[in-house]
Amino acid sequence: MAVVVSSNGNAPAFEAKLTVYVFICVVIAAFGGLIFGYDIGISGGVTAMDDFLKEFFPAVWEKKKHVHENNYCKYDNQFLQLFTSSLYLAALVASFIASAVCSKLGRKPTMQFASVFFLIGVGLTAGAVNLIMLIFGRILLGFGVGFGNQAVPLFLSEIAPAQLRGGLNIVFQLMVTIGILIANLVNYFTATVHPYGWRIALGGAAIPAVILLFGSLIICETPTSLIERNKNEEGKEVLRKIRGVEDINEEYESIVHACDIASQVKDPYRKLLKPASRPPFIIGMLLQLFQQFTGINAIMFYAPVLFQTVGFGSDAALLSAVITGSINVLSTFVGIYLVDKTGRRFLLLQSSVHMLICQLIIGIILAKDLGTTGTLGKPQALVVVIFVCVYVMGFAWSWGPLGWLIPSETFPLETRSAGFAVAVSCNMFFTFVIAQAFLSMLCGMRSGIFFFFSAWIIVMGLFAMFFIPETKGVAIDDMRESVWKPHWFWKRYMLSEDDVEKRN
Ligand code: BGC
Repeated sequence: MAVVVSSNGNAPAFEAKLTVYVFICVVIAAFGGLIFGYDIGISGGVTAMDDFLKEFFPAVWEKKKHVHENNYCKYDNQFLQLFTSSLYLAALVASFIASAVCSKLGRKPTMQFASVFFLIGVGLTAGAVNLIMLIFGRILLGFGVGFGNQAVPLFLSEIAPAQLRGGLNIVFQLMVTIGILIANLVNYFTATVHPYGWRIALGGAAIPAVILLFGSLIICETPTSLIERNKNEEGKEVLRKIRGVEDINEEYESIVHACDIASQVKDPYRKLLKPASRPPFIIGMLLQLFQQFTGINAIMFYAPVLFQTVGFGSDAALLSAVITGSINVLSTFVGIYLVDKTGRRFLLLQSSVHMLICQLIIGIILAKDLGTTGTLGKPQALVVVIFVCVYVMGFAWSWGPLGWLIPSETFPLETRSAGFAVAVSCNMFFTFVIAQAFLSMLCGMRSGIFFFFSAWIIVMGLFAMFFIPETKGVAIDDMRESVWKPHWFWKRYMLSEDDVEKRN
């Protein structure tokens, strides 16, 4: 695959091809995303399996048998939800450790650690004979997610040629969506395997974990990470290999320059608090809040209930998983295709309008037609299902992938790993908040929850419009000059220390 890529004009035109080797590295590394997606998708199904509940949460199972549900108030147990979200809490902590490993040892060993955590975590959860094993396994899976989600997006952004960075980075999100789809299918089929279907479901994550472990033996370390750790010759070699061209001197020099600056920073977290770090730091954190407050995980969780209302009966769960899951996967390709053509801002703005309309229509129909226990008429339910699908589409090519891409490409090298760790842990925190609170919110706010998410979408759309600059095609180590310094708002933080002194 020798596609010569050229710069879009505002970035240094480093010559590069999309080599087969880079492509292989991208696919292997993105298996980290597949495991993350599988973990997101699998727990909802497993915690609904009676065999699983009987074994680990007998009290919950007893209660569930007698509980009276309505359209908004589904069976809701905080303890069980905490089991699901313990993974996100562990990942939140782990991403900070992963960031140190990523800087000191490199992106590749961090991915290898992730796959080992995944494998042990899968072994413990799938083979669990008591609650301790199960929870401990969940925590290790969380460590795997923390390490994987830290290293993989950074790795992808660093090995990709600038002009294709967006698309190659989104392969991570693509694998997340594939993981979710596979997990939902596995849930559906293993639910009928008694009494150990849940073990098969949890054990399934071993396959991508093994692929990541062995695959990570053949992928390269990123040139940036090698040069940052003073392995300049090796870094240059790898750069030549992944770019597929002879003349890599200019890009090599720019990485060396970035590494020189980075080496003067002893405490990246302190540096993150300095004014110059503010633009990527604030954007990186807010993107995570916004990504989760689009309501995507809530909508995907609620989708089977809506499909049931449309009249798909016992096949609702399967159909919902296949339809929304496939739309999620396929629409991510649109993001891959467009992100380096139309740019990041276009996708964020377009999808904000797109998702807002969907949320409002869903909210209005539910508010009007669905009483507390009454059912929705079939035509209305069908409209709701269609707009859920259209909504998932919009998310899949915008806030989903860009929540990972933008923080991985906008920090300068000296704070890249630390800044991205903060972003990953924020993502985990807000995913945890939604996972923990959604069912109770739905029960309390009813259709109002869709207006709640709509309000958030307006806020994020406005934020994107005014504060998220375009980073398409800009070399990863050139953001300060090409992006922040010219920006109407963020340039105020880009003054040199001399300027700040003069101003004071
Ligand atoms: C988000 C997940 C979400 C998934 C949906 C990811 O980018 O971080 O929380 O479940 O997209 O495809």
